[in-house]
Amino acid sequence: MWNPNKSLNSIPHLLHLSLFIILQVSAEVHGNPANEIVDMINQNRTSNKLPKLYDSAGLGCMALQYISECTGNCSKNNTMNCRPPEVNITEVYAPNCGVELPTVGIISGHLLGCNWNELSPQQAFSSVLIQNKQMLTLLHSKEHTEVGVGFSKDHRGPNFWCVLFSSGKTNSSFVLEGGKGIEQKTGCFSGTDLPCSAGMKLFLSEILLAVVVVLLVFLHSCMLN
Ligand SMILES: *[C@@H]1O[C@H](CO)[C@@H](O)[C@H](O)[C@H]1NC(C)=O
Ligand SMILES: *[C@@H]1O[C@H](CO)[C@@H](O)[C@H](O)[C@H]1NC(C)=O
Ligand SMILES: *[C@@H]1O[C@H](CO)[C@@H](O)[C@H](O)[C@H]1NC(C)=O
Ligand SMILES: *[C@@H]1O[C@H](CO)[C@@H](O)[C@H](O)[C@H]1NC(C)=O
Ligand SMILES: *[C@@H]1O[C@H](CO)[C@@H](O)[C@H](O)[C@H]1NC(C)=O
Repeated sequence: MWNPNKSLNSIPHLLHLSLFIILQVSAEVHGNPANEIVDMINQNRTSNKLPKLYDSAGLGCMALQYISECTGNCSKNNTMNCRPPEVNITEVYAPNCGVELPTVGIISGHLLGCNWNELSPQQAFSSVLIQNKQMLTLLHSKEHTEVGVGFSKDHRGPNFWCVLFSSGKTNSSFVLEGGKGIEQKTGCFSGTDLPCSAGMKLFLSEILLAVVVVLLVFLHSCMLN
C-alpha cells in the first residue's frame, strides 16, 4: 500500500542519489586531456634530444577552434578529410579566441585526428596523432618552438584532437587578451587548467537523465510500500 510518510522519508536519500548520479556523469568530462598530450609531445621530443616546446594557451585555443570546422568530417572508420583554409587560422580562430592579432605567429605544422571511441590521452597520442612516419617527422621538426593542443568530444559523437605547432617567439606570440582570451563553449585546450567542457547540451540532458532515474526509483519505492 502507498504510505506517504515512508515515501517522504526517502526523499533526502533520493536527492542524495540524484546528486551522486550527476557527479558521476559530469566526472567523465573533468580533467584536461589536452595538457596531458602536450606532456607526451615534450617527453617524446626530449627523449629524442629535441628541445621542449613552449605550451601556449593562445595556440591551444586556436587548435580547438580548428576542430570546430571539422566536426562533421570524421568517417565511421576514424579517418578524416578536413582542410579548413589556411587564412581562417588568422582571420577566424585568432579573433574567436581573443588572441591579439599582431601577436599571431607562423604555424609551422599541425596534426589532426578523430576517433569514435573513448581514448586515453596516451592512446590518442600514439594511435591518432602519430599514425605514420610522416606525422612523427612533423612532431620532431626543429622548426617548432611552441605547441598548443585542442580536444573536443561530441556527445555520442566522435572525439577530435588537434595539435598546432608554431615557430613564433615563445613569450610574445599568441597573446590572449586580458591573459584569458574568449571563453570557449565546448572542449578544452592546453596551457590552461580549465576543465574539459562538453557544453551545456550535455549537462542539461544528463540532469534530465538523472531526474528520470530518480523518478523511476521513487515510483518503484512507492509501489513497494
Ligand atoms: C575507411 O578508410 C579507408 C582508408 O583507410 C578509406 O579508403 C575509406 O573511404 C574509409 N571509409 C569510409 C566510410 O570513410
Ligand atoms: C568536410 O567534408 C566535406 C565533405 O567531404 C567537404 O566538402 C568539406 O570541405 C570538409 N570540410 C573541411 C573543413 O575540409
Ligand atoms: C572559414 O571562415 C569563414 C568565415 O568565418 C567561414 O565562412 C568558412 O566556413 C570557414 N571555412 C571552413 C572550411 O569552415
Ligand atoms: C615517440 O612517439 C612515437 C609515436 O608514438 C613512438 O613510436 C616513439 O617510440 C616515441 N619515442 C619515444 C622516445 O618515446
Ligand atoms: C622575451 O624573451 C626575451 C629573451 O628571452 C627577453 O629579452 C624579452 O624581454 C622577453 N619579452 C617579454 C615580453 O617577456
